[in-house]
Amino acid sequence: MWGWRPRLENCEVCHKRHGFTQTLSLQKPLPQLCTDCHKELGGTAAGAAPAQGSSHLAVKDVSCVACHDPHASNKKGLLRAGEAQTCAQCHERIELALQSKSKHKPFAEGRCADCHAPHTSAQSGLLVAPEKELCARCHGSLEELPELHRRPEVAGAPCSSCHDPHSNAAPAKGGRSSMLPT
Ligand code: HEC
Ligand code: HEC
Ligand code: HEC
Ligand code: HEC
Ligand code: HEC
Ligand code: HEC
Ligand code: HEC
Repeated sequence: MWGWRPRLENCEVCHKRHGFTQTLSLQKPLPQLCTDCHKELGGTAAGAAPAQGSSHLAVKDVSCVACHDPHASNKKGLLRAGEAQTCAQCHERIELALQSKSKHKPFAEGRCADCHAPHTSAQSGLLVAPEKELCARCHGSLEELPELHRRPEVAGAPCSSCHDPHSNAAPAKGGRSSMLPT
C-alpha cells in the first residue's frame, strides 16, 4: 500500500543523487528531514528533552525511522510493524511481559497508545494523562474500586506502586491475578 501523502514517486523531496555513484543520500540529516515538515515534532527531537514530562524522541538512537518506514507500509501510521512489535524491538522487558501468561487486557491486545504517547508527553513515562486519571478512564473513580482503595494511605499512592500496568512477567503460582500486588 502506498500510504505516503507527499508524492512518494518524487524521491528528491528526501533524496539527492550523490555524484556519479548515483547512491541515494538524504537531502538533510534525520530527524530534520522529517521535522521540517512535521514541525510539531521538531522541538522534541534530537536531544531537546522537555523541562517537564518525557520525550522519547530526545533519546539517543530513537529516530523516526526506527518506528516508521519512510516510504510505505501496510500498517497504520506508516509503522514498520504492529504497535507492540515496534516497541518491543527495543524494550526487552516488554517483550518478556508480552509472553507472560497473565497480562493486563489493553496491554495484551497491544494497545500501547491507550496509555502512552509515542513521541512526547507532558507526563512522565510518556503517559497520555496523569496516571490516576488514566486508570480512571477505564476503571472509574475510587468509589468504584474495592473498599481498600479508599484508605488514605492507599488513595494517596500511585496505582502502579501496587499494580503492574502491563503484566506479571513471572506470574505467582496458583494463577492469581497478574495485576495484583505480589
Ligand atoms: C519522505 C522522505 C522520503 C521519500 C519521499 C523517499 N525516501 Fe527513500 N529513504 C528515506 C529515508 C529516511 C531513508 C533511510 C531509511 C533508514 O535509514 O532506514 C531512505 C532509504 C532509501 C533507500 C535505501 C534502502 C532502504 O529502503 O532503506 C532507497 C533505495 C530509497 N530510499 C529509495 C527511494 C526511492 C526510489 C524513492 C522515490 C520512489 C524514495 N526513496 C523516496 C526517505 C525517503
Ligand atoms: C515534504 C514534507 C514531508 C516530509 C519531508 C515528511 N513528511 Fe510525513 N507527512 C507529510 C504530510 C503532508 C502528511 C499527511 C498529513 C496528514 O494526513 O495529516 C504526512 C504523513 C506522515 C505520517 C502519517 C501517515 C499516516 O498514514 O497516518 C507519518 C508517520 C509520517 N508522515 C512520517 C514521516 C517521516 C518519518 C518522515 C521522514 C523520513 C516524514 N514523514 C517526512 C509531509 C512530509
Ligand atoms: C518509538 C516509535 C516512534 C518514533 C521514534 C516516532 N514515531 Fe511517529 N508514531 C509512532 C506511533 C506508534 C504512531 C501512531 C500510529 C497510529 O496508530 O496511527 C505515530 C504517529 C505519527 C504521525 C501521525 C500523526 C500523529 O502525530 O499521531 C506522524 C506524522 C509521525 N508519527 C511522525 C514522526 C516523526 C517525524 C518522527 C521523528 C521525529 C517520529 N514520528 C518518531 C511511533 C513513533
Ligand atoms: C529504537 C528503540 C526504541 C523503540 C522502537 C521504542 N523505544 Fe521506548 N525507549 C527507548 C529508549 C532508549 C528509552 C530510554 C531508556 C529507557 O527508559 O529504557 C525509551 C523509553 C521509553 C519509555 C519510558 C519513558 C520515561 O520517560 O520514563 C516508555 C514509556 C517507552 N519508551 C515506550 C515505548 C513505546 C510505547 C514504544 C512503541 C510505540 C517504544 N517505546 C519504542 C527506545 C525505544
Ligand atoms: C493500561 C495502561 C498501559 C498500557 C496499555 C501500556 N502501558 Fe506501558 N506503562 C504504563 C504505566 C502506568 C507505566 C509506568 C509509567 C511511569 O513510570 O510513570 C508504564 C511504563 C512503561 C515503560 C517504562 C517502564 C518499563 O517497564 O520498561 C515502557 C517501556 C512501556 N510502558 C511500554 C509499553 C508498551 C510497549 C506497551 C504496549 C505493548 C505498553 N507500555 C502498554 C501503562 C501502560
Ligand atoms: C483502556 C482501558 C484501560 C486502562 C486505561 C486501564 N485498564 Fe485496567 N483493565 C482494563 C480491562 C479491560 C481489564 C479487564 C477487566 C476484566 O477482565 O473484567 C482491566 C483489568 C485491571 C485489573 C484487574 C486485573 C485482574 O486480573 O483481575 C487491575 C488491577 C487493573 N486493570 C488496574 C489498572 C491500572 C492500575 C491502570 C492504570 C495504570 C489501568 N488498569 C488502566 C482496561 C484498562
Ligand atoms: C496499596 C496497594 C494498592 C494501590 C495503591 C492500588 N491498588 Fe488496586 N488493588 C489492590 C489490591 C490488594 C486489590 C485486590 C482487592 C480485592 O480483591 O478486594 C486491588 C484491586 C484492584 C482492581 C480490581 C478490582 C476488582 O473488582 O477485581 C482494580 C481495577 C484496581 N485495583 C485498580 C486500582 C487503581 C486504578 C488504583 C489507583 C487509583 C489502585 N488500584 C491502587 C491494591 C492496590
